[in-house]
Amino acid sequence: MPTEGLRTSPSRPCTPEVDGAVTAVAQPNIALIKYWGKRDERLVIPWTSSLSMTLDVFPTTTTVRLAPAAGADRVTLNGRHAAGETLRRVLDFLELVRELAGRRERAVVDSHNTAPTGAGVASSASGFAALAVAAAAAYDLDLDATELSRLARRGSGSASRSVFAGFSLWHAGGEEDPDGSSYAEPVPVRGLDPALVIALVDDSPKAVSSRAAMRRTVDTSPLYRPWADSSERDLIEMRLALGRGDLDAVGEIAERNALGMHATMLAARPAVRYLSPGTLTLLDRVLRLRQEGTPAYSTMDAGPNVKVLCHSSDADRVAAALRDAIPSGSVVVARSGPGARLLSGGS
Ligand code: DP6
Repeated sequence: MPTEGLRTSPSRPCTPEVDGAVTAVAQPNIALIKYWGKRDERLVIPWTSSLSMTLDVFPTTTTVRLAPAAGADRVTLNGRHAAGETLRRVLDFLELVRELAGRRERAVVDSHNTAPTGAGVASSASGFAALAVAAAAAYDLDLDATELSRLARRGSGSASRSVFAGFSLWHAGGEEDPDGSSYAEPVPVRGLDPALVIALVDDSPKAVSSRAAMRRTVDTSPLYRPWADSSERDLIEMRLALGRGDLDAVGEIAERNALGMHATMLAARPAVRYLSPGTLTLLDRVLRLRQEGTPAYSTMDAGPNVKVLCHSSDADRVAAALRDAIPSGSVVVARSGPGARLLSGGS
């Protein structure tokens, strides 16, 4: 896999005898301004900038061990051998890390994910953020947080944001140096104590992967360009709202941005529809919570689940309302969480 544009250098010379295990952990993030659509598929450069909150739930823990005697990489996810598209993406990613490090040894990757995989709770974000941190350390790459964010981006766009704690902004990047200028960074927030209450309507894997769905949307949806333009304006307003700690404005902008993203998909040919009857029930309940005086705002990703932004102090009330609305689902209260980090091994 080409490594064009990635600005890193191995911190130490090739040391094939090093085979210590390195373990890293990362949390998913939920975008309040969505990433939907790539300008460059290979480098994972988005059309628009996005902004998210890293969560304190659903960590992915990944161990990378170099295997100098092995002829191929080995990857297990939740104790099972990875296969298909997931395996291909991890192997491509390891190849990229090896090129950056100037190393050749194969690796054994063992990853444990606590979110329902493929259900729109961003398991690829925590997965590739943890893999970026663990693999970079295992191959002795000395990367700062910006470089780790760029690297994680190559695995999965949203992973660039999970490198950071709390709120982070992933810059779409410029034409001149697309790879170098597309990375996430922390966003200053004042006086907000937010929660995201996650209502899992359905934890089965999605019918269309977000990667395929966003490609189809960009290629065929007449609503894509208008949404992308309005998303850039949403981002400007969102940063101002976060800066003044205005949860109502943050929530209103997040809700319209997410609904707009789903509108682009519904207009794709053929349509991509992740929203289910359970999703609509929850959207109605959130509207009623607002009418009853509880500030609560919905956002949805590539799946039927609904994440509800509210004040931390209202989280239990919001969770109870969502549980009542979908008795067959499950509800998890998340708050702002830490960035990707090494747990053991590495330097
Ligand atoms: C709807 O980051 O999973 O969650 O870059 O193709 O791996 P790839 O896509 P991914 O897409 C996430 C899309 C989203 C919105 C968001 O997180 O911004």
